[in-house]
Amino acid sequence: MKPFLLALALLAGAQAQLGQPILSSLFSKSPTCTVSDTETCKLSEMDSSPGTSTIVHPGGDTRCIFSYSSDYEFQVWPGDNDKLMDYTIVHIMYCSGDAHAGNSTRSYNDLRGQPVRQVGAVNVQTTLDWVTSQSDFWSEDGLTDLVISGASAGSLGAQVWADNILSDFKTSLPYERAAVIPDSYIGVFPDGSQGPTMIDFGVCAGGTLKNSPDLLDKCNNGELTLQDISGAAMSRHPDVPFAWIQSKRDIVQKAYYDAIGLTVDLELDAIGDVEFFKDANQIIADYTSQYKNAVSYIVDSLMHTYTLLPIVYTASSRGVAGGGDDMSMIDWLAQFPMKTGTTVESVCDGQVVDLDEHPKWFTNYCAAEAQSEYTQE
Ligand SMILES: *[C@@H]1O[C@H](CO)[C@@H](O)[C@H](O)[C@H]1NC(C)=O
Repeated sequence: MKPFLLALALLAGAQAQLGQPILSSLFSKSPTCTVSDTETCKLSEMDSSPGTSTIVHPGGDTRCIFSYSSDYEFQVWPGDNDKLMDYTIVHIMYCSGDAHAGNSTRSYNDLRGQPVRQVGAVNVQTTLDWVTSQSDFWSEDGLTDLVISGASAGSLGAQVWADNILSDFKTSLPYERAAVIPDSYIGVFPDGSQGPTMIDFGVCAGGTLKNSPDLLDKCNNGELTLQDISGAAMSRHPDVPFAWIQSKRDIVQKAYYDAIGLTVDLELDAIGDVEFFKDANQIIADYTSQYKNAVSYIVDSLMHTYTLLPIVYTASSRGVAGGGDDMSMIDWLAQFPMKTGTTVESVCDGQVVDLDEHPKWFTNYCAAEAQSEYTQE
């Protein structure tokens, strides 16, 4: 059996503007494979020397946001067969500007006069179909480990796709244990802004809600939230831990709060650190009170994303450079997917106080309601 990591990539704003999978330039020496009538880009035939990845252009209905963008592509590191815990990684590049969730043709055009199209959901579904069709690579017994992880927009993608992947893979590519690791997008947004944004992105038409008629109704009514989607995923998969990584004062999530807020209310005040952290705590507290499989790692920092950056190896609850007595971020992450009988505890640095008594001027606390632990049965 083989472990498998599905990573959804980062940087919503920059990539939406460039309309390019920007990471690909970092991997320009990687071999490229383009799916065609005569080429299926088989995982079993890819170069699996350590550190080598292959860029796949799956074609079909996939695309990036602008007519002149490069092709949509994903990146594959085949795992070795002779090493324990050596993951096969499929990295879904981000070039759709819709948090990997949309399926929409916009009413406005790109610089060449062609309609802007955001089909992140099509890109992800096409990639998943490729993954599950590689039956000659995967063991007949399926996967030992399945990890669904993403940073920034990829965190949103991991949340939106978690239930689909965890549910669909049960038949198409069964797994023994799994974990979902959303890095840096807990989803603090202005009231009333999420539903309309999802309609604009085409989330309701994106197929990610196909298992959830109730969520689809809410989506079409403009009332769906990310928290509804993630809540449903946690509730449907109680044996899968959802490990939330979040900075107390994430500067990029705050900027997106302000930007999205202006699209619904031009008078909206920018969000401050104290309010942002309080709202983030409230979301985590809602998760931990309703679902036993929510745990979190909170960093006293303004950093946005960890898992795709070298700071994942240095960070602790004290900050990017580490320190303090808590388990480091990398040691905490290494616990997932969890072994049967083990327990993971939420991590946060600061005095533990009830959320309604949180300090009014500082973020140097931890909300009692957001603390949790999960034992893998
Ligand atoms: C995207 O929308 C088109 C119709 O515009 C539909 O045919 C297709 O199935 C959708 N794909 C996904 C993955 O949602």
